[in-house]
Amino acid sequence: MSVEQIAVVTGAGGGLGGCIARRLHAEGCKVVLTDIAEEPVAQLAAQLSADGATAFAMQHDVSSRQDFEKVLDAVRTRWSVPTVLVNNAAMTQAKDVLSIEAEEFNRVLTTNTDSIFYGCQVIGAAMAQEGYGRIINMASLAGQNGGTATGAHYAASKGAILTLTKIFAKQFAAAQVTVNAISPGPQDLPIVRQTVPADKLEAVLASIPVGRLGSPEYVAKMVALLADEEAFFVTGACWDVNGGLFVR
Ligand SMILES: NC(=O)c1ccc[n+]([C@@H]2O[C@H](COP(=O)([O-])OP(=O)(O)OC[C@H]3O[C@@H](n4cnc5c(N)ncnc54)[C@H](O)[C@@H]3O)[C@@H](O)[C@H]2O)c1
Repeated sequence: MSVEQIAVVTGAGGGLGGCIARRLHAEGCKVVLTDIAEEPVAQLAAQLSADGATAFAMQHDVSSRQDFEKVLDAVRTRWSVPTVLVNNAAMTQAKDVLSIEAEEFNRVLTTNTDSIFYGCQVIGAAMAQEGYGRIINMASLAGQNGGTATGAHYAASKGAILTLTKIFAKQFAAAQVTVNAISPGPQDLPIVRQTVPADKLEAVLASIPVGRLGSPEYVAKMVALLADEEAFFVTGACWDVNGGLFVR
């Protein structure tokens, strides 16, 4: 990589975000790990870089535009404008569609979509001014097939993320800022085992054509590939990683 890579990974306190932050750091990126929960990102950042030279953590609520501005200011002050943004944080909830209250529907939908909207508006616009950037939005199979184990609010938010990815890809293409989505099916992660009741896990596994859960390390590798300087020709795309659950 000839560009000095500075990556912001949201939701880095979670299973997949942690893998992504580790991978980008291992590939030589400076990494800012953000999450609404402070402790897990503080611990991981300290493991990656005890003196903070190549990684640091920030508490960050992705449903707040102001918080994205704070992250941008902090990274710019410490290093420079981020070159990579991984919009990975999300609220994952499972509930029968007829039982979801209006307030919870709106909270999950807006948190998950605001994170992409503000992330692209605030950090994407700063990247565009610099004339370089790579944005990777974490969507989901649920946004493509309506969801299986997850709720309607979650699935609807992930569908909106796929659309926002295309909108911002068009907006920033001429400024050499690419915007792509990754759409994972169920990965071998704690949240999947928490969301899917143990007695239903066998049925979920049986429903996956390849017969097993996905590898979060591989998803992190896909993120690194899209974050690469050489990925300039991939934009507005959605890379599926779903074990054959959704073929298009
Ligand atoms: N795990 C899977 O199989 C799977 C499948 C498809 C898509 N995904 C997507 O991958 C991403 C990561 O999933 P995960 O499995 O690591 O989930 P996770 O729940 O382990 O991690 C999500 C992280 O986001 C953080 N978060 C939640 N709300 C936030 C907010 N308002 N502001 C900032 N941070 C917030 C949480 O604290 C948590 O650390 C999500 O976008 C999820 O939808 C995961």
